[in-house]
Amino acid sequence: MKTVLITGANRGLGLEFARQYGAAGYRVIAACRKPENAVALREIPGVQIHQLDVDDLASVHALRRALSERAIDVLINNAGVFGNLGADGNVDYDLWLGLYNTNALGPLRVVRALLPLVLAGEDKTLVFITSTVASITNASSSNHGYRMSKVALNMLVKCLSLDLVGRGVTTLLFCPGHVQTDMGGPNAKVAPVDSVSGIIRQIDASTIVDTGRFRDYQGEDRPW
Ligand SMILES: NC(=O)c1ccc[n+]([C@@H]2O[C@H](COP(=O)([O-])OP(=O)(O)OC[C@H]3O[C@@H](n4cnc5c(N)ncnc54)[C@H](OP(=O)(O)O)[C@@H]3O)[C@@H](O)[C@H]2O)c1
Repeated sequence: MKTVLITGANRGLGLEFARQYGAAGYRVIAACRKPENAVALREIPGVQIHQLDVDDLASVHALRRALSERAIDVLINNAGVFGNLGADGNVDYDLWLGLYNTNALGPLRVVRALLPLVLAGEDKTLVFITSTVASITNASSSNHGYRMSKVALNMLVKCLSLDLVGRGVTTLLFCPGHVQTDMGGPNAKVAPVDSVSGIIRQIDASTIVDTGRFRDYQGEDRPW
């Protein structure tokens, strides 16, 4: 049985990843900030729920200890935060640092702690959820703080793909589209079920040759 670990698994895209991987017969390790409130997650048969705040190194290390030596085939770095913050008016630097801390440093903390478990897995696949709005080629003038945090994530993913290709790790970066979640809002075009099934299809079809690619949920390469 293959194992997937998903961060931010209690709602939105993370919850949908947990549902679809559970239905596909994976052992699902679902990580979230408040397991005691994760009502929807508990409805997924067989799911193992663990506490994880990606901002908090102690929480990340506690998860590593709780997992012991369990191998992870696919690690999905999904947890993220949005801030509707442009560069005009009053910039709240603490909020901008918060976006960077969760969206860029959070996945770094998780990967550094859990990499040995991924290396022990059969698939050795690292997945990161970014956004097309982080494309510098297609930049527009809004939500600067969020874009900057995801650009930093994109660079982290590129670096990791180079660092880890020699150890057989496939490192993949996806934009999920504009999806109907708390973050995407009710008017988003894409349903979570379609976004996540599209990303899982790309993950399943990927090999080490695809490491370091930036694609959308339909498999189209995105400009950096
Ligand atoms: N929806 C879109 O249109 C869209 C578009 C492009 C990219 N994305 C990206 O897709 C990913 C998932 O987004 P979503 O739409 O599912 O958002 P969402 O509905 O707002 O869910 C965000 C998830 O991340 C978790 N999270 C936030 N900060 C965390 C932290 N410090 N530690 C652990 N978990 C944390 C949240 O947990 P709590 O419940 O505890 O807050 C929640 O489970 C994000 O990386 C987002 O940037 C989304």
